[in-house]
Amino acid sequence: MKYDTILVLDFGGQYCHLIGRRIREHGVYSELAPHDVKPEEIKLLSEKLNVKGLIFSGGPASVYETNPPRPDPNILGLHLPVLGLCYGHQLIAQTIGGRIEPAKQREYGIAYVTVDKPVGLLKGLGDREKVWMSHSDTVFSVPAEYEVLAHTENCPVAAFRHKEKPIYGLQWHPEVVHTEKGTQMLRNFIFEVCTCEPNWKIEDIVEKAVKEIKIQVGSGKAITALSGGIDSSVATALAAEAIDNRLTAVFVDHGFMRENEPEFVKNVFSKFKINLITADARERFLTKLKGVVDPEKKRKIIGEEFIRVFEENAERTGAEYLIQGTIYPDRIESGFGRFSDKIKTHHNVAGLPTRIMFKKIVEPLRDLYKDEVRKVAKILELPKEIVFRQPFPGPGLAVRIMGELTKEKVEIAKKADKIVREEIEKGGLEKNLWQYFAVLTDTKATGVKGDARAYDYVVAVRIVESREAMTASFAKIPYTVLEKISTRITNEIPEVTRVVYDITHKPPATIEWE
Ligand code: XMP
Repeated sequence: MKYDTILVLDFGGQYCHLIGRRIREHGVYSELAPHDVKPEEIKLLSEKLNVKGLIFSGGPASVYETNPPRPDPNILGLHLPVLGLCYGHQLIAQTIGGRIEPAKQREYGIAYVTVDKPVGLLKGLGDREKVWMSHSDTVFSVPAEYEVLAHTENCPVAAFRHKEKPIYGLQWHPEVVHTEKGTQMLRNFIFEVCTCEPNWKIEDIVEKAVKEIKIQVGSGKAITALSGGIDSSVATALAAEAIDNRLTAVFVDHGFMRENEPEFVKNVFSKFKINLITADARERFLTKLKGVVDPEKKRKIIGEEFIRVFEENAERTGAEYLIQGTIYPDRIESGFGRFSDKIKTHHNVAGLPTRIMFKKIVEPLRDLYKDEVRKVAKILELPKEIVFRQPFPGPGLAVRIMGELTKEKVEIAKKADKIVREEIEKGGLEKNLWQYFAVLTDTKATGVKGDARAYDYVVAVRIVESREAMTASFAKIPYTVLEKISTRITNEIPEVTRVVYDITHKPPATIEWE
């Protein structure tokens, strides 16, 4: 059976992934495609998927720039339903000969649209709807074979459609929660306009992934890099289900793990019939990092050393296949991330490059978003400590210890991190948090412990709320909990005299300190 599918053409908008996820939430499969995907490529995709509609995403460009990103001119010739959002809306309007101009007033944020015709995409909506807009170019008119469906004070054509063909444009973003009836608008597009069947469900993914691993690995041996994070854990669990003890999982202990982490991972995966290798590489990482202070250098050294340790262990197993927990956003970011700036070198166990010649790299999670991976983890009955665990960066505590890494500093960071986790989890606060951890700064401050003056480390506590880590806000944790964290850290860790709470959002700060 082929999944009914909506393709989202990516014009560089920050909400592209969100559009895809919103569609999948309704049981309809969705994939991102480059903005200039060729009609032949879509036809080819149709061998596997039943492509039933296209969405042109928003994007930072203006149709007036020189060489703005445009779709393939023959794409409309496929006669598939099309919906343009924001920049996509302007693109379609321009292509069909509509009039677009820079707006008198830029609209950004919540806006109220007057619905002139509640039909098609806007079926079931009221006269006035609250939507999320962000644009400066504005569509002022569309040709006679099109009709206006909604307008705002500054935007005469906020929604339009072709009078006969399924071609739609919306100046606003239905995928964003601030658009109150956004879900209904997307449902109208998926089910009314594109007549999709909701025939995609997450359970199928498990069965499909296990089958695929079985076919791809055949009677061979495979290896996986297990970090204890959710992605590599789920990939490992799926592979275990498919090939049992022909799978070797390598857990590299670089020494910057949280307290008890190696034991935790060993314990969870001892229940599977796989071979688990724990590579104790603590000394080796510290030696490589001696004297290194620059955060990017630290990250690079850790990433490279990780690969060396993995390779050494992989070679011994004689595995011909590498199974990786690469998820959908990882794949897209490395593919079309060309418009975005590099903020940090992410060392990601899932994106493990290696010198070893594997016959094949198998990526069973390649089409899934993070929340979908969590659902798969639940189906596989992985313990809740794995399903709901907070993200943990590949380089671990190393990017939470400012300056040079030493054994002493690692021990302090581990203790502080454990206290933050315990106090947050005691109150069940973690359910609404993206991450909560301690950072060991390289600042020292004066304190008084007992009757004596002390001059020692400052620990920063970082607790954030976020949906996708692209943006984050510091969490408004009750003072009593912060007080408990601070008291315990200064009491239980003699080398710390002061605890501060990081009250910076992302942006401008990143979540991790390095
Ligand atoms: P930043 O600090 O860039 O982090 O705001 C965003 C999210 O990514 C996690 N992070 C990493 N994850 N390897 C990873 O697998 C890394 O090198 C890495 N660095 C940051 C971070 O914990 C946050 O959730």
